[in-house]
Amino acid sequence: MVEKMKTTIQTTMQTAMQKLFLTIILAAISVSAFANKLDVNKAIKLSVDIDKGKQLYQINCSRCHQSQSYISKQHRAGTIPLIAGQHKNVLIKQLIDIRNGDRQNLIMYPYTLNQYLKNESEIADVSAYIAQLPVSVNNTQGDGKESNFGKKLYNDNCKSCHGVKAEGNNNNFVPKLQGQEYNYLLRQFVMIRDKRRAKTHPKMLEAFNKISQTDKFSVLDYISRINP
Ligand code: HEC
Ligand code: HEC
Repeated sequence: MVEKMKTTIQTTMQTAMQKLFLTIILAAISVSAFANKLDVNKAIKLSVDIDKGKQLYQINCSRCHQSQSYISKQHRAGTIPLIAGQHKNVLIKQLIDIRNGDRQNLIMYPYTLNQYLKNESEIADVSAYIAQLPVSVNNTQGDGKESNFGKKLYNDNCKSCHGVKAEGNNNNFVPKLQGQEYNYLLRQFVMIRDKRRAKTHPKMLEAFNKISQTDKFSVLDYISRINP
């Protein structure tokens, strides 16, 4: 009797394990099969549906990125960026770069795939929705010790592209840096300088190379203090 029960349990467990294994394999296949590359230039030209973008955002994105009025611990730590109010074309490029493997991030990567964003059109819709949200004014800043020096570094090396108020430029795909968490700026600065983001403007890499290891804290602190 006991033996029979044992066998039944074993068989049930085996079947369960097989099912689980099969599910994992199918999930892996579906992820790789639907990671077809998308085209930034096609996506920026599409007309957009903001209501559809809002729906997509609320279902798939808001639990991590939140809205501009709520900042989580993961934002504070620089793990998750604040994206409300970013330029539409920039968002489109960021999403497609992550999806196409030009930027590596295991947390964000799955959300750029077909299960969440089917094609260029959905990427454009969600980006248009995020772009019209107000920028956060509640971000954390650096230590504020060298703000004047940081301002000089910014004006000399970054302003030409990112703008006087770090407002960025939609047509040139230059991100708005206003209102971003200091720790996220720092993490991305290091990622870009170490060439871990493939589609980076070569002129920006030149600018980064002029900023020393210690000076980066000053320039990023200054940026984190610019009010929109
Ligand atoms: C499980 C949490 C999570 C979810 C859900 C999520 N993201 Fe993200 N997202 C992240 C993280 C973490 C990063 C940082 C990527 C990096 O470091 O390169 C990120 C980065 C981004 C960026 C790049 C921002 C920048 O400044 O470089 C955009 C744009 C973005 N996400 C949009 C979205 C959209 C749109 C959705 C919904 C379809 C979404 N995310 C869903 C965690 C998430
Ligand atoms: C030649 C123009 C140019 C210059 C100069 C430049 N940037 Fe950028 N920056 C860009 C572009 C374009 C991107 C988007 C890169 C990408 O998509 O990978 C960017 C991205 C960034 C990001 C990542 C933002 C995000 O949300 O992912 C940070 C941080 C940044 N720049 C800071 C700086 C700082 C600090 C300086 C000055 C030391 C600077 N940049 C100089 C054009 C420039």
